[in-house]
Amino acid sequence: MRAAVAVSQNPEDPLSGLRLKDMPEPEPPAGWTTVSVKASSLNMHDVWTLRGVGHRPENIPMILGCDVAGVTEEGREVIVHPVIADPDGGQGDETLDPGRSLLSEKHHGGFAERIAVPRRCVVDKPAHLSFEEAACLPVAWGTAYRMLFTQARLRPGDSVLVQGAGGGVTSAAITMARAAGVTVYATSRTAEKQELARRLGAHEAFPAGSRLPHRVDAVIETVGEATWSHSLRCLRPGGCIVVAGATTGTEPDAELGRIFFQQLRILGSTGSTRAETEAMSRLVQAQQLRPRIDRVIALEDIHEGFASMIDGTVSGKIVVQVAS
Ligand SMILES: NC(=O)c1ccc[n+]([C@@H]2O[C@H](COP(=O)([O-])OP(=O)(O)OC[C@H]3O[C@@H](n4cnc5c(N)ncnc54)[C@H](OP(=O)(O)O)[C@@H]3O)[C@@H](O)[C@H]2O)c1
Repeated sequence: MRAAVAVSQNPEDPLSGLRLKDMPEPEPPAGWTTVSVKASSLNMHDVWTLRGVGHRPENIPMILGCDVAGVTEEGREVIVHPVIADPDGGQGDETLDPGRSLLSEKHHGGFAERIAVPRRCVVDKPAHLSFEEAACLPVAWGTAYRMLFTQARLRPGDSVLVQGAGGGVTSAAITMARAAGVTVYATSRTAEKQELARRLGAHEAFPAGSRLPHRVDAVIETVGEATWSHSLRCLRPGGCIVVAGATTGTEPDAELGRIFFQQLRILGSTGSTRAETEAMSRLVQAQQLRPRIDRVIALEDIHEGFASMIDGTVSGKIVVQVAS
């Protein structure tokens, strides 16, 4: 079967290690099943794998793609919960299981015609979404759901700042926070993406680094060094930053004085549990939410898709249509 595969890693030229090639059909072990992939979306995670960050070289070659929407052997339309973990690991929180992995880390990912996944990872697709839209959900929306509702524990009437509105995780966070009755502020580097943030549901959007109308209960942080200091300054005393990524670097000035004096809480967040993925999917269906797609591309055009993502010129998700 045709697949997009990481065959080597290069920090400076990540796309040189991405190949389209024929790969063997998946052979699901006991307790796993095969999903025919309809669509799979691009994530920064794939780029980190190709750069050699957080991905062991011995796990290469590996089919990339952590997001899958498709059809099971029984004909069920599904999305795939992307965290492969022991559900009882991590003291009952599978995202804390030391042996956990994301699809495409230890097991082949979704840029292929078929994929083997644990049966427990199969979750019903929201019925109102196309496969292309549904393929945007598992990683970005699952991650954003956990950040907003499990880690920051946001409730109706609370306020949140989402840094970097144009991203996959951040556009999901804006949409779901607004649907949950939270006051949403967003920042972006461009006026165009600030307008997009408003269309997604942000009450107001600002250039990166701007003073907000008031301090917020929580900040959704995936940008890293470029926005960290602003994130700290925007929080009310006792507020929290939930950090799930650091696209612009992992080593900002920690500003410990501000953290202890304002009693700020810094919470890491990675992925989602199956229960959170399912709750996210139900919220999307109940509120008829739709992910923002930047473009749908063919598997053959995946290099161009990743190049745009690396440039930061994307607004919303880039989706690979694997089968019509
Ligand atoms: N922990 C987890 O489970 C998890 C899950 C998913 C993603 N992540 C991580 O979260 C990060 C975002 O992922 P994504 O897939 O949402 O990426 P993405 O779609 O490429 O979004 C990147 C975001 O970063 C902002 N940005 C990029 N360069 C910037 C710069 N120089 N200055 C300021 N802002 C900049 C952009 O905001 P504007 O263009 O609007 O300014 C954009 O919103 C990545 O580092 C990824 O690895 C972690």
